[in-house]
Amino acid sequence: MKLVHYGRTAKMGLFSTTPFKNENQAFIFSPAPEFVIFMIKLQLMKPEENIALAPFTSFGVESTARYYSTFRDEAELEELLFWGARYPLLILGGGSNLLLTRDVDGLVLKNEIRGITELHEDNDYVYIRAGAGENWHQFVLYCLSRNWAGLENLSLIPGNAGASPMQNIGAYGVELEELFWDLEAWHIREQKKVTFTKSDCGFGYRDSVFKGKFKGQFVILNVTYRLRKKPRYTTSYGAIEKELEKMGVKELSIKAISDAVISIRSSKLPDPRVIGNAGSFFKNPSVSAEKHALLQKQFPDLVAYPNVDGTFKLAAGWMIEQSGPAPGISWKGYRKGDAGCHERQALVLVNYGRALGSEIFQLSEDILQSVHQKFGVELEREVNII
Ligand code: FAD
Ligand code: EPU
Repeated sequence: MKLVHYGRTAKMGLFSTTPFKNENQAFIFSPAPEFVIFMIKLQLMKPEENIALAPFTSFGVESTARYYSTFRDEAELEELLFWGARYPLLILGGGSNLLLTRDVDGLVLKNEIRGITELHEDNDYVYIRAGAGENWHQFVLYCLSRNWAGLENLSLIPGNAGASPMQNIGAYGVELEELFWDLEAWHIREQKKVTFTKSDCGFGYRDSVFKGKFKGQFVILNVTYRLRKKPRYTTSYGAIEKELEKMGVKELSIKAISDAVISIRSSKLPDPRVIGNAGSFFKNPSVSAEKHALLQKQFPDLVAYPNVDGTFKLAAGWMIEQSGPAPGISWKGYRKGDAGCHERQALVLVNYGRALGSEIFQLSEDILQSVHQKFGVELEREVNII
C-alpha cells in the first residue's frame, strides 16, 4: 500500500500523530512511537482485578475493588487515569479517614509518590516538599530531626502527606494551614498539573476545596510546607502542659512537644493496628451564641469553646457520651456486633473485628439522630464515606 505523507504531525491529547493518505485517498494516521510505547506500558501496568481493600484502610472493613493499582509518579498516574477513564475513581492515601460501605465498582489508585525535598530557605523559614505518598508521622519525625519547627503538634496523625490538605488536618492547637505553603495536583479532566496556593485551598476547620467544590477532581501529587527555623511553641491546648510536667521537661523543645502529643494521643485514641477506626468520626459542631446560651442553661456541664467569630464550638464527644441508644445507656463504650463507639473517646467509632462498613455507618446514623434529639444539634461526619 502506498502512503503519502499528508499534513503536519499534530499533537492530539497525549500523543502526536502523523496523517497519511493511502491510494484511495482515505486518511490513515500512523501511530507515533510514543503511542506504541504508551500502549505497551498500559498492557504492563493494567491494574489488578478484584482486590480486597480491608488492608488498605484503618477501619479494616471488607470491600473489594474491581480494579486496583499503585502509582509512584505523575507519569504512572496519567497512564492509569487514561486506562481507567470510563470507571469511577477512588484515590487512596493511607486509608485512615475513609469508611468503605460497599464494594468499589471502579478503579482504586493508591498514591505512592515518595520523596522529601528541601526547596529553599530564607531568614526565617525552610520550604520542604513532600511527595503525597510520604507517611505523615515519618515526615514529621524527619522534620523534627532537622530542627524544622511547626509540625510537632501534628505528630502521630495517621495517613499520608497528600491527604494533609484534604481536611486541613489539625490537633492540639495547630492546623495544617499554618504550615502549608502550596501543593501540586493533577487535574483529572483537563489532564494537567495545577498549583494551589494557600488562598486557593479554601481551608477551614477539617475542610478544604478538595472536600468541597473540587471533590474528586484533583489528585494531590506533592505538598510544600513552610517550616520555622526558630520554633514558636503551642502548649496551651488540652493536656500538653500537664503532660510536659509529667515528663519532667525543664526546657521546652519541639521534640518534647512531639513526645507529649504522642503520649496523650496514645493514651486516648485506639491504635488502628489493634482496633479498626478512622479517628474522630464526626466534626465538633459550631453553634450561635444564642444557641450556646440555651444549651448551657439546660446542660450546665456542656463542653464548648468560643470561636473568634462569636460562635461556639461544642465537643461532639461530650454530647455523644451524654446520649445513648436507650435511657440510662451511653453511646460511649456501646457495641452492636463488631461495630462500636470507643470506650475512651466517644467521637471515635470502631470496628472490633468483622463489622461491615454499612453497620458502622448505621451506628453513626443512630448516634447522629440521638444527639439531634437531645441537643437539637446536627452532627456532621468528618470521615469520608464511600
Ligand atoms: P485517606 O483516608 O487515604 O483519604 C482521605 C480522603 O482524601 C479520601 O477521600 C481520599 O480519596 C482523599 N485523598 C487521599 N489522598 C489523596 C490525594 N493524594 N489526592 C487526592 N485525594 C486524596 N485527622 C486530623 O485532622 N487530626 C487528628 O488528630 C487525627 N487523628 C486521627 C487518629 C486516628 C487514630 C485515625 C485513624 C485518624 C485520625 N485522623 C486525624 C484522620 C486522618 O488520619 C487524617 O485525615 C489523614 O490526613 C488522612 O490521611 P490518609 O492518607 O489516610 O487519607
Ligand atoms: N469528651 C468527652 N467524652 C468523650 C470524648 C471527649 O466528654 O468521650 C470531652 C473531653 O473531655 C474534652 C472535649 O470533649 O473536654 C474534647 O475532647 P478531646 O480533647 O479528646 O478532643 P476532641 O474534640 O474529641 C479533637 C479532634 C481530634 C484531635 C483532638 C486534639 C475533631 C473532630 N477532633 O477531638 O482529631 O486529635 O481534638 O486536638 O476536631 C480526628 O480528626 O480524627 C481527630 C482525632
